[in-house]
Amino acid sequence: MSYATETSVISPQVVPFYRAIPRLLKDPVAELARMGAEAAGQVVRVDLGPFRPYLVSHPDHVQQVLTAEWNNFAREGMFWRPVRRLTGKGILREGAEWTDARKILQPLFTAKYTATLAEDMADAIAERVLELDVHAWTGQPIDAADQMTAIVNQAIVKVLFGGRISRDTAERLAPEFATCATSIAFRLLFPFIPYSIRVPGDRAYMRATNNIDEIVYPLIEQARREGARSGKADLIAVLLTAREQQDGRVDLEQVRDDLVSMYATATETTAMSLTWLWAVLNDHPDVSARLHEEIDHVVGQDPVRPEHVPRLSYLHTVLQELLRLYPAGWLIPRQAVADTEIGGVRIKAGSQVLISPYTTHRLPEFWDRPLEFDPGRWAGDGATPRHRYAFFPFGAGPHSCLGQNLFRIEAPLVIANLLSKYRLVQTNPQPLTALPGASARPKQQIMLRLVPIERNPQT
Ligand code: HEM
Repeated sequence: MSYATETSVISPQVVPFYRAIPRLLKDPVAELARMGAEAAGQVVRVDLGPFRPYLVSHPDHVQQVLTAEWNNFAREGMFWRPVRRLTGKGILREGAEWTDARKILQPLFTAKYTATLAEDMADAIAERVLELDVHAWTGQPIDAADQMTAIVNQAIVKVLFGGRISRDTAERLAPEFATCATSIAFRLLFPFIPYSIRVPGDRAYMRATNNIDEIVYPLIEQARREGARSGKADLIAVLLTAREQQDGRVDLEQVRDDLVSMYATATETTAMSLTWLWAVLNDHPDVSARLHEEIDHVVGQDPVRPEHVPRLSYLHTVLQELLRLYPAGWLIPRQAVADTEIGGVRIKAGSQVLISPYTTHRLPEFWDRPLEFDPGRWAGDGATPRHRYAFFPFGAGPHSCLGQNLFRIEAPLVIANLLSKYRLVQTNPQPLTALPGASARPKQQIMLRLVPIERNPQT
């Protein structure tokens, strides 16, 4: 179906330069959402001077860009440049590079295959959560973002790298990735600034990328010497085999790019989603109480196992609502390949099109009480949004997230592990703003006190 022939051409609403710049400098993630809402979901042109991207938020238009006409909206252009300095060639690109990578990686992320990793993941998470006990004894609050990153890292390293990465190495990698994810914020906001001009964050980003290379290349070399390991999933071994060329040589830079892309997409998004959760629960004691009740009932004092996950139905609704209001993958940029139209607005080849789940998920046209955190909207008959493309935290179409099955097991395991042991009390409650980066993370630090759950010895 060609969208271009169906509508008569109209002019998009424009947010003029003098208004767009101060708004985006102040609170970019939320302001973009407000611009979408002010236009009732119609296409908006954001005037950033030399650069004037289209904000596309109506679910019909999201469907057009991500699915129906996905071939005409490529992951190219200035928004992808900052990310690619880290992730290189492969799964986050387009064309043959993307198809080859997706073909190699997809079998490792099917629901069936992911289920085989769940036991190991549960062990890794339980082990890491146990280390937080010292904070419960001393009363020393934890930094939610740091600890969620550490827990998620341990789980991902175990399941994706099959034990090839030591704990020390994983703990050295995590902060470097976090630096990359946050230090590209300026480049994402002002992507038209040439790289010959240094902007805030550039130096930190390059240093972190170099540090990542210094850790990752030796790991690949070591895996080559060791050969395939028997047993469980091992992303490095799969990649070393898949990336062997006809002459028997392996494209090590490609293996590095694949590995770094997977590590980056798997950890930051999940860790940041979990970080938002604790502040949200703190603001919604009723939701928190009900979650505790469910986990107490389903898990009790037992170790949390993957078979508990499907029985945590209230937790599932909380996660859906978390992914609606705080989708870590907040920005999905595209570049038009050929001239087309979106919602009657003519889009020229080469134009930048911005899709933001954070924006669409908050449109009043598609959500009742859009800014209210209400897991109840996902329960029973209300379990589906009004429009299939009104909710797409994992993207949509051929580029949709490879890791969503993993997330759907991993996140409940982390939450149930924590809530079966502690009440998490935020010691610095405050209004939060979303910091733009590769993922949307809370700008403010979220500090949590772990209060051990007292249990009646009879139970
Ligand atoms: C809350 C957690 C997560 C969120 C919100 C999220 C979000 C997204 C989004 C929005 C996209 C679409 C990007 C686009 O269309 O350009 C995406 C793609 C992707 N995600 Fe995730 N993701 C999450 C977790 C994960 C995990 C755990 C993994 C890996 C284990 C992963 C791996 C990927 C990969 C490889 C792609 C690129 C797929 C492709 O282009 O073929 N993600 N993710």
